[in-house]
Amino acid sequence: MGKTVLTGIKPTGQIHLGNYIGAIKPALRLAENESYQKAYFVADYHGLTKIHDQNQLKELSYGVAAAWLALGLDPDRAIFYRQSDIPEIFELSWILSCFAPKGLMNRAHAYKSLAEGNQRSGKDVDAGINMGLFTYPILMAADILLFQSELVPVGKDQIQHVEIARDLAESFNKQYGKIFTIPEYIIQEETSVIPGLDGRKMSKSYNNTIPLFEEPKKLQKLINKIKTDSMPAEEPKDPDSSVIFALYKEFATIEQTVEMRRRFEQGIGWGEAKKELFGVMNSFIAEPRLKYDELIANPRKLDAILYDGAKKARKKTIPFLKEIKEKIGIYQ
Ligand code: ADP
Ligand code: TRP
Repeated sequence: MGKTVLTGIKPTGQIHLGNYIGAIKPALRLAENESYQKAYFVADYHGLTKIHDQNQLKELSYGVAAAWLALGLDPDRAIFYRQSDIPEIFELSWILSCFAPKGLMNRAHAYKSLAEGNQRSGKDVDAGINMGLFTYPILMAADILLFQSELVPVGKDQIQHVEIARDLAESFNKQYGKIFTIPEYIIQEETSVIPGLDGRKMSKSYNNTIPLFEEPKKLQKLINKIKTDSMPAEEPKDPDSSVIFALYKEFATIEQTVEMRRRFEQGIGWGEAKKELFGVMNSFIAEPRLKYDELIANPRKLDAILYDGAKKARKKTIPFLKEIKEKIGIYQ
């Protein structure tokens, strides 16, 4: 059997260009390899660490599911599911938490950066931090290890989490014999940090995102907001330090990219460059957007697809969890 590739997206905001280019696109590209087994999912219980509004969590979860499908994930060729439909993940998460050193969690960046922020602003170190957020990497390790995943395509910010999953797997295996497969992360160096409207990493935490399925008028407006300098149109520009070029090349053909690079170097007005960016993006997204809108309008269909995926997933997770429980002495 081929390698298992697994990745998840948490529903904490609308899918944006950074998520697509940094996470979804590389995962779908890997999925083209027929010999791989694919497990792609909506990490809704990871979303719960942040989203505490019932309707919002529901809508964002459907949004992530619809995005995967609209962008080309074929549920007949992958196991495509909602994390919360697989109870074995949460049982394993508890088991793993009994093997996870607390110090390791203290060093996990999502928690650490919030704790440090609290300290800087003179607050209690743990103000506003829930235990779900603190133990987030353990749940992610359970996601990965329960499926015996070998390859985990993620963005750069998730490397540490995959390393934690490796650590937990290794110490578990050392104690009980080889049970878990040791996962490896895959990142795409050149697209590991897609810049947002203000030039910083595109992230919902910075409010600088371009949602992927934005309707054309709004998309145009957002693109117009991308920060540029006041260089005159005819002045040569460095394509490699431009947010506009960085985004353009993700949606353009190689020929178009070569041509745009030439135009930058010869001098192109920012308004013109933005128009070109809108052109390639909008034509790329036109079809997926229709599919996305259709799926979002039909949550029953999404439920059925996800439920079907969960059934397939549990054919693997139920027996494997049983094996793990036998090893630790919970079952005879
Ligand atoms: P956000 O930073 O908006 O909260 P998430 O943390 O939910 O995004 O990221 C989901 C996935 O998308 C992760 O694999 C992450 O690495 C990837 N990702 C998010 N933003 C970017 C970006 N600007 N460039 C590249 N990849 C990104
Ligand atoms: N933590 C990941 C993120 O924030 C989402 C995620 C949850 C994930 N479980 C996973 C990614 C397992 C890869 C594998 O983007």
